[in-house]
Amino acid sequence: MSAPSKIYDRKNPFLASIKERYSLCNPGSKKNTYHLVLDLKDSGISYAVGDSVAIFPQHDPELVDRTLKILNASGNEVIVDKRSQETLPLHAFLTTKVAITTVSRKLYTETAARQLQADKKAQLSYLLQSENQPLLKAYLEKHGLWEFLAEHSEVKWNLQELCDSLMPLLPRFYSIASSMKAVGNEMHLTVALPHALAETEVKRGVCTHYLCHLAPLNEPVIPLYIQAHHGFTLPENIHAPMIMIGPGTGIAPFRAFMQERTALKAPGKNWLFFGEWHRAHNFFYEGYWKELEAQGHLRLDAAFSRDQEQKIYVQHLLHEKGEEVFEWLQNGASLFVCGDAHRMAKDVEKTLKHIVSTHGNLDEPETEKYFKTLKSEKRYLRDVY
Ligand SMILES: Cc1cc2nc3c(=O)[nH]c(=O)nc-3n(C[C@H](O)[C@H](O)[C@H](O)COP(=O)(O)OP(=O)(O)OC[C@H]3O[C@@H](n4cnc5c(N)ncnc54)[C@H](O)[C@@H]3O)c2cc1C
Ligand SMILES: NC(=O)c1ccc[n+]([C@@H]2O[C@H](COP(=O)([O-])OP(=O)(O)OC[C@H]3O[C@@H](n4cnc5c(N)ncnc54)[C@H](OP(=O)(O)O)[C@@H]3O)[C@@H](O)[C@H]2O)c1
Repeated sequence: MSAPSKIYDRKNPFLASIKERYSLCNPGSKKNTYHLVLDLKDSGISYAVGDSVAIFPQHDPELVDRTLKILNASGNEVIVDKRSQETLPLHAFLTTKVAITTVSRKLYTETAARQLQADKKAQLSYLLQSENQPLLKAYLEKHGLWEFLAEHSEVKWNLQELCDSLMPLLPRFYSIASSMKAVGNEMHLTVALPHALAETEVKRGVCTHYLCHLAPLNEPVIPLYIQAHHGFTLPENIHAPMIMIGPGTGIAPFRAFMQERTALKAPGKNWLFFGEWHRAHNFFYEGYWKELEAQGHLRLDAAFSRDQEQKIYVQHLLHEKGEEVFEWLQNGASLFVCGDAHRMAKDVEKTLKHIVSTHGNLDEPETEKYFKTLKSEKRYLRDVY
């Protein structure tokens, strides 16, 4: 089933269109997460539940214009993309080929070498010292190309050389939130706008801004290819119980899992732990989960972190239901975790280990062994980012 997908890859992506796009958050929400329906008609693409999609974004035209202005360029100048050897106008090159919301190390280093003003040269050189690498990294991530070029406008550049010193615009990955058994030639995504950065337009996320705000509907302009799951998919045994833990956008693959299990009429029990800010604003796909619950296909526990003074997270609910969670594991359940890798996945793992050790009456090495066995049986699977 996955063979036709192979014709599309990083070098040869399929151009999909967005059929539908709407916010999953109710009015008044301080964060915004979107549901996107992409049209894969006539692509021959087939994806499996648990797969992700890689999407190549485009920059906001306003940011491209800002960069062109600083460069004193019209955008019609002909540039050779050093990676593909393709020849294209500077405007298109900046829009689709290179990162312009950050500064590349190469551009920084070359600017430092070319800068003749002593004070500015000293400033640039300071961050290049080996002990200042973390400061340099933060600086590069924080500055847009136009800001950096404006700051060093006296530095002389040959346009092609400058273009050669920019980083490529890399694809972004999104967990697929649908099963082809339920949606046919569509692909559904759950895309969160970076809330911390949404205030200032220049710091918007490149791909999220493109997908949720800029890309036109019903036009084949979204280059994508499938990134196959590496084991993060439904258990082969349709009778096997599943515990799915997916706060925020981590919910996406579990919508796909449930669509597939429903289509397969899989009798295995399903338990979902979801977490978000507010029940009233951010209960993504609430109607769908409630329907599955009413039909007896799903057990649902939701933690809303900002509905009360003290944070309630998915791991707090797991902890409360620890005895039953352990019982499910003893009965062969698979554990799935999806979403934030930095804090959530680590904290959830700590809680799961605590549950196993408490209810299984196991000491630390025995608990570690229990998890090692779960992993070797492909019953503890994570898709975290
Ligand atoms: C396997 C995999 C699956 C993924 N699945 C999903 C998914 O289903 N849905 C989804 O929305 N994302 C998902 N992501 C994250 C996604 O790939 C992008 O990283 C994310 O959308 C930001 O991309 P951007 O181009 O908009 O931001 P960029 O321009 O790349 O980033 C701008 C800055 O904002 C920060 N940032 C990005 N997003 C947020 C945020 N939400 N809150 C606070 N700060 C943020 C980044 O750290 C960065 O410093 C997944 C990532 C991987 C690796
Ligand atoms: N670069 C960053 O600074 C940054 C920040 C956030 C998210 N992200 C990324 O953005 C993407 C999607 O984010 P999202 O908006 O969908 O969801 P999210 O930010 O992961 O938040 C979803 C829910 O998880 C809660 N949460 C926070 N810390 C947690 C923890 N340690 N354990 C369990 N739950 C925790 C949040 O609560 P509270 O927010 O109320 O604490 C919220 O209720 C992910 O890739 C994530 O990694 C990046």
